[in-house]
Amino acid sequence: MPDKMKNFDEKIPEVVLNSGHKMPAVGFGSAGYPMPPTEQLASIIVDAMEIGYRHFDTAACYGTEEALGKAVAKAIEIGVIKSRDELFITSKLWCTEADHDLVLPALKQTLGKLGLEYLDLFLIHWPVRVKHGAHKFNFAKDEILPFDVHGTWKAMEECSKLGLTKSIGLSNFTCEKISKLLENATIPPAVNQVELNVGWQQRKLVPFCKEKGIQICAWSPLGAYGNFWGTNAVMENPILQEIAAPKGKTMAQVALRWIHQQGGIPIVKSFNKERMKQNIQLFDWELTQEEMDRILQIPQQRVCKGEAYVHPTGPYKSEEELWDGDI
Ligand SMILES: NC(=O)c1ccc[n+]([C@@H]2O[C@H](COP(=O)([O-])OP(=O)(O)OC[C@H]3O[C@@H](n4cnc5c(N)ncnc54)[C@H](OP(=O)(O)O)[C@@H]3O)[C@@H](O)[C@H]2O)c1
Repeated sequence: MPDKMKNFDEKIPEVVLNSGHKMPAVGFGSAGYPMPPTEQLASIIVDAMEIGYRHFDTAACYGTEEALGKAVAKAIEIGVIKSRDELFITSKLWCTEADHDLVLPALKQTLGKLGLEYLDLFLIHWPVRVKHGAHKFNFAKDEILPFDVHGTWKAMEECSKLGLTKSIGLSNFTCEKISKLLENATIPPAVNQVELNVGWQQRKLVPFCKEKGIQICAWSPLGAYGNFWGTNAVMENPILQEIAAPKGKTMAQVALRWIHQQGGIPIVKSFNKERMKQNIQLFDWELTQEEMDRILQIPQQRVCKGEAYVHPTGPYKSEEELWDGDI
């Protein structure tokens, strides 16, 4: 065994998706701000692989696909992993490409940036379509176009049938939007990746996805602590603090373990080696029922409201419409 492979002693469990493929029960988030340069991020991701992460989350809009691709190549070169098949790699279709005919070219571009032949999971990033060619974030309100859920999903299914992605799924979809998609789907979504943490527990969506066999993945599992889009409602929560200290766990570990016990898969971002290690030490201890009940008392608030996709003359006229009332 190469030396580097001895470094990871954390065995991360896996869940089996409805596609039959296995997904490690914690993922590494690659979106941060400010972002380190590509080479530096690639080296951080190699560190994460040495520590034991095998599941990596990126997206066309993050600008991190290239760094992840370089990290995969480096990790194979130095013997941290033997082959790309040991990894689970997710990327996402951005809103400007959410049109039937643009999906396959977008996936091919993503694979080109990653330097890979296939993804493990390709997600529709938002149930939103923005005019092709518009700026990826600073688009005008009249560039937000109606989202054709069936047409876009059909193209996702074609990507899967071509073998370019092992599983396909969704991100930021509500129960209503998933139900509509399921009316015509021939391949059900394997995953819905959404904001989920102790401060936004998704009490409607989590049981719905469970019933439909769709795996929930949790973005901002720590409330994006310290980020401009984040909240301190998780990492400065007094209930979490009271639970963590006597257990000899950190608040982050309690927050992540809570997601695991909900059946969710946290996608957690840390570019700091110590915190990376901490964030996967989740699987040889548990929260008691009493502790889970206390976490239920935490006040609930969605942090990411998706304001950018809402406009009085657009397809979503209010945040209520975007989230189908679940805000
Ligand atoms: N699908 C979507 O629409 C969507 C939206 C947002 C995010 N995501 C994905 O989800 C990933 C995670 O979400 P996120 O980045 O918003 O938030 P997050 O993982 O909840 O929080 C990240 C922040 O917490 C800090 N942190 C990490 N571990 C810590 C620990 N043990 N103790 C204290 N602080 C800690 C990090 O700082 P350090 O790096 O300094 O440790 C970073 O500032 C993203 O990177 C991205 O891949 C997806």
